[in-house]
Amino acid sequence: MCSYMNSLVLVCLVLGSLCVNVAESRDLNCLHEKVEYSAINCRKHSALLTDFGGKGDGVTSNTAAFKAAIANLSKVASDGGAQLIVPPGKWLTGSFNLTSHFTLYISKDAVLLASQDETEYPLIDPLPSYGVGRDGGKRFISLIFGTNLTDVVVTGGNGTIDGQGESWWKDFKSGKLKNTRPYLIEILYSRNVQISHLTLINSPSWHVHPTYCRDVIIESLTILAPIDSPNTDGINPDSCINTRIRDSYVVSGDDCIAVKSGWDQYGIKFGMPTQHLSIKRFTCISPDSAVIALGSEMSGGIQDVRAEDVHAINSQAGVRIKTAPGRGAYVKDIFVRNLRMETMQYVFWMTGAYGSHPDDGYDPKALPVVNNINFKDMVGKNVSMVGNLAGIEGHPFTGLCLSNITAELAVKKKKKNIHPIFSSEKKKLPWNCTDISGVSSQVTPKACDLLPEKKVDCAYPTDILPIDKVVLKTCST
Ligand SMILES: *[C@@H]1O[C@H](CO)[C@@H](O)[C@H](O)[C@H]1NC(C)=O
Ligand SMILES: *[C@@H]1O[C@H](CO)[C@@H](O)[C@H](O)[C@H]1NC(C)=O
Ligand SMILES: *[C@@H]1O[C@H](CO)[C@@H](O)[C@H](O)[C@H]1NC(C)=O
Ligand SMILES: *[C@@H]1O[C@H](CO)[C@@H](O)[C@H](O)[C@H]1NC(C)=O
Ligand SMILES: *[C@@H]1O[C@H](CO)[C@@H](O)[C@H](O)[C@H]1NC(C)=O
Ligand SMILES: *[C@@H]1O[C@H](CO)[C@@H](O)[C@H](O)[C@H]1NC(C)=O
Ligand SMILES: *[C@@H]1O[C@H](CO)[C@@H](O)[C@H](O)[C@H]1NC(C)=O
Repeated sequence: MCSYMNSLVLVCLVLGSLCVNVAESRDLNCLHEKVEYSAINCRKHSALLTDFGGKGDGVTSNTAAFKAAIANLSKVASDGGAQLIVPPGKWLTGSFNLTSHFTLYISKDAVLLASQDETEYPLIDPLPSYGVGRDGGKRFISLIFGTNLTDVVVTGGNGTIDGQGESWWKDFKSGKLKNTRPYLIEILYSRNVQISHLTLINSPSWHVHPTYCRDVIIESLTILAPIDSPNTDGINPDSCINTRIRDSYVVSGDDCIAVKSGWDQYGIKFGMPTQHLSIKRFTCISPDSAVIALGSEMSGGIQDVRAEDVHAINSQAGVRIKTAPGRGAYVKDIFVRNLRMETMQYVFWMTGAYGSHPDDGYDPKALPVVNNINFKDMVGKNVSMVGNLAGIEGHPFTGLCLSNITAELAVKKKKKNIHPIFSSEKKKLPWNCTDISGVSSQVTPKACDLLPEKKVDCAYPTDILPIDKVVLKTCST
């Protein structure tokens, strides 16, 4: 008898060798459900974590099982590649490294539980474009790590990766950590990368960090962390070329998406920009941070970012540009349209005085260029301030274009029995602009004087990025 787990279940197979293992972790009648999934490439070889001694009981460490499995499956990389299936169960593990032509598939009802034992995360060097770990010192390697890979997929049937970050957050807040917290998934120097169809929760720090990569597909992720957890950014494309982020939902204690490219003198020297990033159908809740942040680390440059059909709920800022003298490089050719917002501190927030430097070796004369920033077709409800836009004195942010934008301002609660002249609450203006230039069209409430009205429809590219044309194949477990 086959039990149909979900609508994706197509065929049920009885495979002798798999039966024992599956039966071990789930009291099922020797069944392995064949499930379809979408990926950049399907694999010729397939194995279960349990083939390598994995135990899904929530207490046994599976670090050795993951390492053995991936070492073994890396041998068939040039022979059609392999997929490693994590069956339903709770799989405690420390860090492990991915390999090329490889798919890690986390089944529906499977949970990877990140070990809270620091020794399960060996220290690695800081990223060359950062000079130091973001929290200082060296870096604890990420839970799921990969470097110098080609064709690697981390996906599943919406299975869960739980970073169990609480102990890291506590140690970070109390200043106990001497090194930078692990990320949940970090992939460096790789091409053809897919991270999709997963629920990622409670990372010790950032959740998804593709860095120095090309051709990256991030889709159908649900990322959840407490809104007061430190630096639990959702998705951080960092010095990557050709990335698409689609159909994802993030609730977090920091930026939902933070686009980056290295930090001050280290990032300038490394010189690798983030370019050709496409974001579509994205929902964010981030009360203390941005829906989409550009920076603050942007010293390799950020160019050609397109975001559309974005829904922001109870967030601090819609689009935020964060930079500072010392960063150098540029943020340019940014296009955002159809951003829907409810309960926002700021719709637009830009600052050229973000500060935050890796060390004292930065060059204060390295001024970032911010130019050609286009925002259109946006509606905001319950907005406290529409635009808080500050460039760098004597080095303004230029080429801002805002069109067809309506923000409904939050109704201030009247304080009972207090005459307005005694109220400490000053009336906040909807706009505050300094050291910027550009134009506005059909913006309500009327934009600041530095964005004079002109009849324009701000630009949005009409070409389709090559990464947006990639069609995923249908594979099966
Ligand atoms: C590992 O790979 C070899 C082939 O290279 C295979 O013979 C062996 O059975 C594999 N080990 C396990 C535990 O599956
Ligand atoms: C994983 O990769 C890192 C960085 O290359 C390396 O330091 C570490 O030893 C690798 N771990 C394993 C288990 O191979
Ligand atoms: C990965 O690639 C980078 C850039 O090509 C290179 O500097 C580095 O040594 C490589 N690392 C490994 C572990 O092969
Ligand atoms: C994946 O799981 C999360 C958490 O349970 C849920 O909120 C989300 O809707 C699921 N996504 C899909 C595509 O089933
Ligand atoms: C409007 O925003 C404020 C915070 O600025 C919040 O307290 C309030 O609940 C929001 N109102 C609605 C109707 O969402
Ligand atoms: C203005 O933006 C809204 C979405 O916020 C869109 O529905 C509408 O079509 C836009 N109007 C024009 C003239 O583009
Ligand atoms: C406007 O922004 C400037 C620059 O950030 C700041 O110095 C000033 O205090 C702000 N004004 C108001 C009224 O908030």
